[in-house]
Amino acid sequence: MNIKVLILALLVALITSQQYSISQCDCSQLLSEDDCQKNDMIKCQWDSTKKTCKIQDTTTNPVINYAKYCDNFKEMECPKQKPCSNCGSYSACAWVDGQCTFFTDCTAFNKTTDSDCQAISNKCITDGTHCVEIDTCDKYKKQQSCVKSLFGSLCYWDTKNNNCVDADTCDKLPIKFQTDKECRHEIQSCTAKSGGGCVDSGVNCSDQSLEIQCVWDQSMKMECYWNGTQCKDRICDNAPTTLNTDDSCQLFKTDGSCTTKQNGGCITRTTCQAASIQAACIKNSTNEDCYWTGTTCVDKICSNAPTTLTTNSACAAFSKGCITKQGGGCVLNGDCSAANISTACVKNINNFDCIWEFNLQRENMCKCSKIQYYS
Ligand SMILES: *[C@@H]1O[C@H](CO)[C@@H](O)[C@H](O)[C@H]1NC(C)=O
Ligand SMILES: *[C@@H]1O[C@H](CO)[C@@H](O)[C@H](O)[C@H]1NC(C)=O
Ligand SMILES: *[C@@H]1O[C@H](CO)[C@@H](O)[C@H](O)[C@H]1NC(C)=O
Ligand SMILES: *[C@@H]1O[C@H](CO)[C@@H](O)[C@H](O)[C@H]1NC(C)=O
Ligand SMILES: *[C@@H]1O[C@H](CO)[C@@H](O)[C@H](O)[C@H]1NC(C)=O
Repeated sequence: MNIKVLILALLVALITSQQYSISQCDCSQLLSEDDCQKNDMIKCQWDSTKKTCKIQDTTTNPVINYAKYCDNFKEMECPKQKPCSNCGSYSACAWVDGQCTFFTDCTAFNKTTDSDCQAISNKCITDGTHCVEIDTCDKYKKQQSCVKSLFGSLCYWDTKNNNCVDADTCDKLPIKFQTDKECRHEIQSCTAKSGGGCVDSGVNCSDQSLEIQCVWDQSMKMECYWNGTQCKDRICDNAPTTLNTDDSCQLFKTDGSCTTKQNGGCITRTTCQAASIQAACIKNSTNEDCYWTGTTCVDKICSNAPTTLTTNSACAAFSKGCITKQGGGCVLNGDCSAANISTACVKNINNFDCIWEFNLQRENMCKCSKIQYYS
């Protein structure tokens, strides 16, 4: 028992003295990775590329707090945890030697695939030899890591200067890009080219020489249309004459601003009256219904209903709020007095009951009034 206590006391003394001696050094005096990382009197950080111990970068946060925090995570979650406000979408933890610890550096790990590096921390990708931290393009030293920057924009490997730069012009975008959409997603003024990769978009649609480029003008203000041989502005007037329905013209220009016209093709949608054929007589430019009378197109409003409609329900089906009227046709409901025929006299616009009051002496005095309820 006494011996155990003595040994314990000696151990404590030993540890204390070691800590004491370590605290007398500065980080640069610690020559092994082990000494550098395991001492906790002064905050040091091992630089595995330079093989030196340096004072811990204060931006990389307190190891002590996060070590405890990181302890909580399993292998799959560990590389993705982001507890600190300045980590962006990147993890403050890393999966190392079967446990989740505070992340310090990617380069300590010799891994040759991105997925192996990502399994340690989502901050790490490979450069083909070891892991490196996801960073700005100019920080990548090897072609393999030169793909994407910290900000999500693409990088470009300049084979002349053997360096990694921002893919900031159309010609630096990846050759694997096949479509206008992929190119513009990276740089708005780029479009696709044949054989893959991107090229500066033509200024106007008419400047786009290939069908794969004929999607937008350079500023993406005008959509383009390929007529089979040429690229044109996607405007109603440029629609092919094979389009002969309102629907097909709406598909041609999806903002709905075109309708069809006589002999096919599309025209800008304006008033119902402007439509000279039934196929174009659907809606006006404020999206209100039109009505084809058999010869002309008119607004689908009560006063334009045919006289063949002689009931309130037929009028209501024609257009909302219509009631029938003397002689057939419809009128917009309002007060009870809007009805000037007994069959129309049912309810006023506010849904109050109306009554047709007979005046036997003077029939022209008959009128529709609101029913008065007396209590
Ligand atoms: C990583 O590889 C380098 C040589 O490229 C080697 O010196 C180093 O010891 C390796 N590190 C680990 C942790 O295996
Ligand atoms: C593009 O079109 C506009 C007007 O439609 C014209 O003024 C301009 O010169 C055209 N630009 C090119 C490069 O063709
Ligand atoms: C495309 O438009 C051009 C110019 O208007 C015209 O010469 C050509 O015949 C059109 N091509 C087709 C297939 O309609
Ligand atoms: C569309 O029709 C409605 C009536 O249904 C009318 O009030 C409106 O002025 C019309 N708009 C145009 C642009 O013709
Ligand atoms: C009933 O109203 C309609 C339309 O408001 C009108 O044309 C008609 O002359 C009216 N009839 C009578 C009897 O007031």
